[in-house]
Amino acid sequence: MAYTAVVTGATGYIATELVRQLLEKGYNVRGTVRNLASKEKYSHLQALGEALPGILTLHEADLLAEGSFDGVAKGADYVFHTASPFIREVNDPQRDLVDPAVKGTRNVVQAAAKCKDTVKRVVVTSSFAAVVKSEKGPANGSLFTEEDWNDESSLNDQPYRFSKTEAEKEAWAIAKREGLDLVTINPTFVLGPVVGSRADATSIILFKDFIENKGSDIIPWQIDVRDIGRAHVLAVEVPTASGRYIVSHSSTLSTKYISEVLSRRFPQYKFPSGQDAPVKQVVDNSKVQKELGLQLLPPEATYIDMATTLIQKGIATPVAK
Ligand SMILES: NC(=O)c1ccc[n+]([C@@H]2O[C@H](COP(=O)([O-])OP(=O)(O)OC[C@H]3O[C@@H](n4cnc5c(N)ncnc54)[C@H](OP(=O)(O)O)[C@@H]3O)[C@@H](O)[C@H]2O)c1
Repeated sequence: MAYTAVVTGATGYIATELVRQLLEKGYNVRGTVRNLASKEKYSHLQALGEALPGILTLHEADLLAEGSFDGVAKGADYVFHTASPFIREVNDPQRDLVDPAVKGTRNVVQAAAKCKDTVKRVVVTSSFAAVVKSEKGPANGSLFTEEDWNDESSLNDQPYRFSKTEAEKEAWAIAKREGLDLVTINPTFVLGPVVGSRADATSIILFKDFIENKGSDIIPWQIDVRDIGRAHVLAVEVPTASGRYIVSHSSTLSTKYISEVLSRRFPQYKFPSGQDAPVKQVVDNSKVQKELGLQLLPPEATYIDMATTLIQKGIATPVAK
């Protein structure tokens, strides 16, 4: 019998890839969306539901409304909580980032805890933002590992990192109190092919700017969205999965390297020359590879496939040389 998985924030960039992989594997997927009236936000999901073997249903749920996820979690086998704001325009960090991240996580994980009779595991999409410490560096003095917790960010200093750290702490606190099986996936900056036609995810905005030769503001710690999708699926399919999983390339990747890869593949277009930063190993990414058997895609495939999908879908228009 097919397993039933809830995916919160199913419309998002990462969640769409996760929904695609789950449907491809035959899961019944219950995707939550903020507002069922906003069809343009989820029509790509319906297309996936029609094309792939699994069955997709969509459910309205609000991160800030207590009890909002109780109905959708009922009878589910797994709950994936991906919904959380990853936005650059922030007016009020408490309202725009921390409240939806922390209260949303509380509402979703508590909903799962109420359904422990069926829910076997909860996977929360946390972030490397909840791990990294720019000032202090890694606790072991060399590479960031799952043992590291970001204790430097605050509401007024790197509020996105703060929102993800506080949300993950909340998830672990509830899981401990309720005896819930929880795993977190902690990705670095996510890039890779786009399934839907939305262009408002931060990952897409920054890469689109790069392709359109408008900016090169790309974080050097990176990972492919398909690897993140697979890490989530493995987190429920590998029975021994436990704790946090940093999912990332171990070394930094420079914007000069992205430019070289794209210029080789698309010689007709002009890209930013980028910056030639030295390659630095910053992350110990061995846990997810050893424990979940995840093999990472090469970054060249990430850049080429992301550029190809953005151009094909008309989301990005590159500049001819
Ligand atoms: N992209 C990255 O580089 C990256 C790296 C590490 C971790 N993450 C984490 O991965 C998750 C997904 O990120 P993403 O890049 O896929 O972002 P995204 O495309 O912007 O998706 C975010 C999702 O969260 C939902 N959401 C945001 N604010 C909400 C609110 N206040 N109430 C209800 N729903 C809300 C969005 O719903 P709407 O469709 O209605 O807007 C959307 O479905 C997040 O938890 C993020 O922190 C992302």
